[in-house]
Amino acid sequence: MLKIIELNEVDSTNRYALDNFSVLADFSLIIAKKQTMGRGRRGKSWVSPAGLNLYASFVIKDRNFGGAAASWAASLAALSALRRTAQDISFRLKWPNDVYCRGKKIAGILCETKSNNGNIFAGIVMGIGVNLNMPPEDLVQIDKPATSLLAETGKSIDIRTFAAVLGNELIRYRDTIVINGIKPLYEEWKNENFIIGKNVHVSGDSIDADGTVIDIDGNGALILKSKEEILTLHSGDITLLL
Ligand code: BTN
Repeated sequence: MLKIIELNEVDSTNRYALDNFSVLADFSLIIAKKQTMGRGRRGKSWVSPAGLNLYASFVIKDRNFGGAAASWAASLAALSALRRTAQDISFRLKWPNDVYCRGKKIAGILCETKSNNGNIFAGIVMGIGVNLNMPPEDLVQIDKPATSLLAETGKSIDIRTFAAVLGNELIRYRDTIVINGIKPLYEEWKNENFIIGKNVHVSGDSIDADGTVIDIDGNGALILKSKEEILTLHSGDITLLL
């Protein structure tokens, strides 16, 4: 079911999966030892040194993963794989799709849509980056507070083994969507987010506001109560305010 394709070096596993989408099987998992142009959300780059972290892209053709379900399932699968690997450590989600550990980012998700000629939806490439064996002194290269499993546990872990755990978690989420539909997935994803009720600053392409997060709606949008109004935000970066 899960087919893992291992590359030595690539610009971006998402780019590779998008360009080869038509010849890759559903649930192919592309992993690379190194990315030279790892992509982050909102046009940022993703720090991708050789042999230290997981750089993974799933090819998703299964229509159960339409819309926001893909990024919800991806972040929940990453969260679950981290919890299985380091049982004593606390991990939570931070809207929109980051995994956090003790106030620092440990994993990020970038889902990109694949369209066929004629702009017809063909599926999704689900990119997942997880900081696994990056030593604490290297984490300063990342432009926001970041951590790795090694920094948290003092132990290195096998990247391929982690990739297989992650892949199996994703398939488990797919199976639960098939059986129970999207609503329980949304509820689990929302409940794992630690930012509800918190005072935050949100910055993005068309937003720069302080407020309190009062909810995350059924479309995955952040509901922010600022001094002046209630905002419904579909993207952006959150910083917690003290
Ligand atoms: C984020 O900014 O939080 C999203 C980061 C996503 C990084 C992963 S690493 C594997 C895949 N390939 C990429 O170029 N990006 C994603």
